Amino acid sequence: MVKRSSFKILVTGGAGFIGSEFVRQAVALGYPVVVVDKLTYAGDLARLKTLKGRFTFYKADIVHQRRVSDIFRRERPLAVVHFAAESHVDRSILNDAEFVRTNISGTQSLLTISRQVGIEKFVHISTDEVYGAIVRGKFKEDFPLGSNSPYSSSKGAADLLVKAYAHTFKFPAMIVRPSNNYGAWQYPEKFMPVIIYKAIKHEKIPVYAKGLNVREWLHISDCVRAVLKVLERGRVGETYNIGSGDECKNIELVKIILNILGRSKDLITFVEDRPGHDWRYALDSKKIREELSWEPQIAFEQGIADTVVWYRENLKWLQNKVKFLESYWQRVYRPCN
Ligand SMILES: NC(=O)c1ccc[n+]([C@@H]2O[C@H](COP(=O)([O-])OP(=O)(O)OC[C@H]3O[C@@H](n4cnc5c(N)ncnc54)[C@H](O)[C@@H]3O)[C@@H](O)[C@H]2O)c1
Repeated sequence: MVKRSSFKILVTGGAGFIGSEFVRQAVALGYPVVVVDKLTYAGDLARLKTLKGRFTFYKADIVHQRRVSDIFRRERPLAVVHFAAESHVDRSILNDAEFVRTNISGTQSLLTISRQVGIEKFVHISTDEVYGAIVRGKFKEDFPLGSNSPYSSSKGAADLLVKAYAHTFKFPAMIVRPSNNYGAWQYPEKFMPVIIYKAIKHEKIPVYAKGLNVREWLHISDCVRAVLKVLERGRVGETYNIGSGDECKNIELVKIILNILGRSKDLITFVEDRPGHDWRYALDSKKIREELSWEPQIAFEQGIADTVVWYRENLKWLQNKVKFLESYWQRVYRPCN
């Protein structure tokens, strides 16, 4: 086990939804943390406001190798936890160029620098979506990649690069593949905050097709606890699925949230399906549970209830983001013919 106070971690995408929760937990555990984030539309330092002065921040694009290399040489981190990515499937369907640039070239650039400076551990944050969709059963870590969207394909390509570095150069990398995360501070282009925002505002809630697609919901704090376990005790070269087992059809999730907020089901509006919409994701997470004794701690119903409360109490933050989303929503949520 590493001595936390002298084990500096460089976190890419630390101003994002999951990355910021990682920074909060890592700082609380006593790790020195350096955040590298481009602050795209999805990044927001407000997520880290409670940690002011307790981490080092660099606004930088991971694709800019020289700039990032300078940061590594100045900060001398021992580990990299790589969250930075373009992360939204719908946007990748509208335009995939940034996904290829950040998710593939950005990862390649980070791997190169990390190898040059002799990083001791590199944790790459992948996604359950790299496996593709599954009708029955669950994905195990050794299943072949079968990504379907431009987003998941860019993430899968990054996974293969990480694996190639581990295999070819004995580079000390590990990959984690979490399922759908939810919780506070999620940018409201993602399904859960969209539902919550629209329900609070008594607005129509767009649901793709008939809402029967299934996702496995994982609270960000459980996800990050798993990432920290992998960082501290995971086996180099290995991949770990992170799933809660809490599967839910989209339409059921909407009904749960409407129920919590006391809103009518009449708000549900079925819209044209997402092109190539993956039917179901489900992870077999035995490996991380057995090897690293990780278990999710947040019960699904409680996690959703807490999340709804958080958005209600932080409506201003949500509204400030939504201001920029109205025309985007019109592009992705098209009425059924
Ligand atoms: N959100 C989920 O449900 C989920 C599930 C599984 C895996 N993941 C993966 O977890 C990671 C984090 O996801 P998230 O939901 O927190 O994403 P997010 O979109 O909320 O945050 C991404 C962060 O990366 C930064 N970023 C983007 N491009 C960058 C670049 N070129 N250089 C530097 N920084 C850049 C953004 O500014 C932002 O702060 C991603 O790799 C994503 O693929 C997410």
